[in-house]
Parts: sequence; C-alpha cells; structure tokens
Amino acid sequence: MIEEAAKLIAKAKFLIAFTGAGISAESGVPTFRGSGGLWEKYRIEEVATPEAFRRNPKLVWEFYKMRMRKMKDAKPNKAHLTLAELEDMGILKAVITQNIDDLHREAGNKRIIELHGNIYRVKCSYCDYIENLKESGRVERFLAEKELPKCPKCSNLLRPDVVWFGESLPEKELSEAFNLARRSDVCLVIGTSGQVYPAAYIPYITKEHGGYIIEVNVNEGGITPIADVFLRGKAGEIMEELLKKVKELRK
Ligand code: APR
Repeated sequence: MIEEAAKLIAKAKFLIAFTGAGISAESGVPTFRGSGGLWEKYRIEEVATPEAFRRNPKLVWEFYKMRMRKMKDAKPNKAHLTLAELEDMGILKAVITQNIDDLHREAGNKRIIELHGNIYRVKCSYCDYIENLKESGRVERFLAEKELPKCPKCSNLLRPDVVWFGESLPEKELSEAFNLARRSDVCLVIGTSGQVYPAAYIPYITKEHGGYIIEVNVNEGGITPIADVFLRGKAGEIMEELLKKVKELRK
C-alpha cells in the first residue's frame, strides 16, 4: 500500500496536500470530532458562530485565546516537516489546509492556502482593520489582556479572523484551492474527517478531473470512499515512511 502511494507521489506532476486537524494531533493540538475532540467539550453554537460572538463575545474570545495558547506552544511534527521537504524537492505544489494553527508555515511550506483563516490574525467586526499578531509581535500581550480586544481604528470589537459555522470561506482562497484541485494529478489528504464543506470538495474535484487520492488517517472518514490508497496510521509516522520511499524511488 505505502509503496503504491510512494510511486504515485514520485511520478506526480502536480501533487497537492489537503490537511485537517489530524495532521497537528501529534503536535498536541486537539482535533474537533471524535473522542477528546473540541466539539465534545464545547458547543459549536456557543463558541463558533457569528451569533455566538454577538451574544457572548467574552466566551468566544476565551475559547479562541485558549486555542491560541495551545497552538503557540505547539511545534510542527514530522508530517508537517515532510510536506515542507516535498515542496523543497519540487514535488508538492501547494498545501491547502483547514487548520488555523500556522504549523505548515512554521514547518517551512511556502505555498499555503488557509481555507478557515489563521488563529494569529484578528480583524475588526466593523471596519477593515486587520492585524497579524505574530507579525506585530503582540501575541503575548494580546493573550494577557483581560479586557475584550478593541479595534485601534474604530474601537469596535476585534474578532478572530477565522471562518465560523454559517460564514462563507474567503473567496480568493477558495477559488485558488478549487483551481489547484482541478490541476492536480495527486491529492494527498491528511488528517481530516472530510465532513465540513466546501473544504471537503477539494479531493472530490481532483478525483473528478482524473487525479488520484491518497489518504492518511487513523480512521476512515468522508474522503475514504474515493481514496485510491488509504494509509491507516498516525500522520507523522506514515509521512516519514512515505518520504523515505519516495526518495528511494527518485534516486
Ligand atoms: N494522524 C492522522 N489522522 C489523525 C490523527 C493522527 N495522529 N489523529 C486524528 N486523526 C484524524 C481523525 O481520524 C479525523 O478523521 O483527523 C481527523 C480530524 O477530524 P476533525 O476533528 O473533524 O478535523 P477536520 O477534518 O480538520 O475538521 C474540519 O471542522 O470544526 C471545523 O473548522 C473546523 O477546520 C475544521 C473543520
């Protein structure tokens, strides 16, 4: 099985990766669904919708600050690092991710399409103010602040620049992701339950255009029915082995 996947990757002309929370699980970032997932402990309607933010911005910010703290302490794992190496080798053309944890960037990937936003970006709920807290060097100060964050331009509430349930995905990112999926001859799907749309369309688009799907996951999910190769196991372990085999084939 893993040999088959390695062969597909080694001869791919336009490999893309589509990732979900499972790729960051080994970095200590909790996933959403399944046992121990965030949606077991928190209710989506209370922390991850525009209505929730209008009703109780404090609770929503507590949730996102808690996640920012976790993500800030997390380091890219072998699966992220493997994707960075595959891009350096010229094989991987882009990473399309549903994750907001910034770990693909920290691993060194260059072409990253974030479909669901980024935990370190905040934006005004009223005007066009937007800030990347990592770039402005304000992460720690922001996390320590007890008051609700206000926009420095118009004083309205800042919100996380992430996509909540009921909101549209960023247009530019989504159309770029769909274009990449159309072009791609192999899509490597890592650590997603494939239950949240429109993101989950990505591998389906590649498949429809004649591309192959390789899935890496500890469990089967929404993408598995169209996977040409399903590799069961932890993303870090599987990706390390897969890269070794790809390198052997390209020697
Ligand atoms: N290695 C590989 N896969 C793993 C690992 C691991 N170590 N640990 C967990 N998984 C798999 C699970 O089996 C599951 O299929 O990762 C997947 C995580 O699924 P979800 O928690 O549903 O995460 P994701 O698919 O990214 O969710 C999509 O839902 O709540 C929203 O906006 C949120 O972007 C998120 C979207």
